[in-house]
Amino acid sequence: MKVRKAVILAAGMGTRMLPSSKVIPKEILPVIDTPAIQVVVEEAIASGIEEIVIVISPGKATVIDHFNCNLELERHLEERGKHELLEIVRRSNNPAKISVAEQQSPLGLGHAVLQARAAVGDEPFAVMLPDDIFDCPRPCLRQLLDAAEAKDAPVVALLKVARSEIPKYGIVDATRVGERLYELHGLVEKPPIEKAPSDFAIMGRYVVTPDVFELLAVGKPGAGGEIQFTDALMALSKRRKIYGYEFEGIRYDLGDRVGFISAQIGFGLKRPDLADRLRAYLQSIITQ
Ligand code: G1P
Repeated sequence: MKVRKAVILAAGMGTRMLPSSKVIPKEILPVIDTPAIQVVVEEAIASGIEEIVIVISPGKATVIDHFNCNLELERHLEERGKHELLEIVRRSNNPAKISVAEQQSPLGLGHAVLQARAAVGDEPFAVMLPDDIFDCPRPCLRQLLDAAEAKDAPVVALLKVARSEIPKYGIVDATRVGERLYELHGLVEKPPIEKAPSDFAIMGRYVVTPDVFELLAVGKPGAGGEIQFTDALMALSKRRKIYGYEFEGIRYDLGDRVGFISAQIGFGLKRPDLADRLRAYLQSIITQ
């Protein structure tokens, strides 16, 4: 399969990051200086995606505005000879073909994906959750796409999590079939620890076939009373083989306070312009 499109879900209310997400969409909150939504769009582009559909909810237009050109700002920077900043700002101007879909009511992740049906049409596509961001030797989505293309089948990102973390995630029942590759027999959204089929959690990167839309359209509310994407994937696994890929790299959960701080530190320590000062600061407070 050849995957050209990615759906980025940015319709959530961001309750885990209140009060900062009260007015500012959580997808605009930065990883150091770059909004999470831009980090995810750049991962999609680096993975070879050509068209991006961003699903937002009412009041979250800022997420899309971020990719528009701000002429006044650019003129200001140009007049002052701030070429480096100008370059940085221009990187976020229409970086790919981006379209918008709206989820009018918060009926769940699966329902949010369904809103992209018209924009995606009848072709395989990726789904990306901007709470999950990755620091990988090859972009996380690219790793999944390679597996999906090789198997000509849907693939989800997998990460082993601590037992105590299991109820926060979609958990899979999986058999290893290759290097980092697992065939999935079951997927369950946020199970209690004792009912979990494994400690393999789904992370927010998926490659799916368009028949998932039919399943979402008839999907019933599941965990938390919401139409869950995981439930549609479970239904999909009954129709065709689907796989999990234990990606290589680090994942940060931006929707979690410690995850958010960890991302700033982790990415900060990789930035040549920041690493030395940040490391010195961290050493000074740790040895206190
Ligand atoms: C969503 C998915 C869940 C997945 C998680 C990854 O949950 O429903 O299956 O494991 O993302 O971050 P949420 O974080 O929206 O509760």
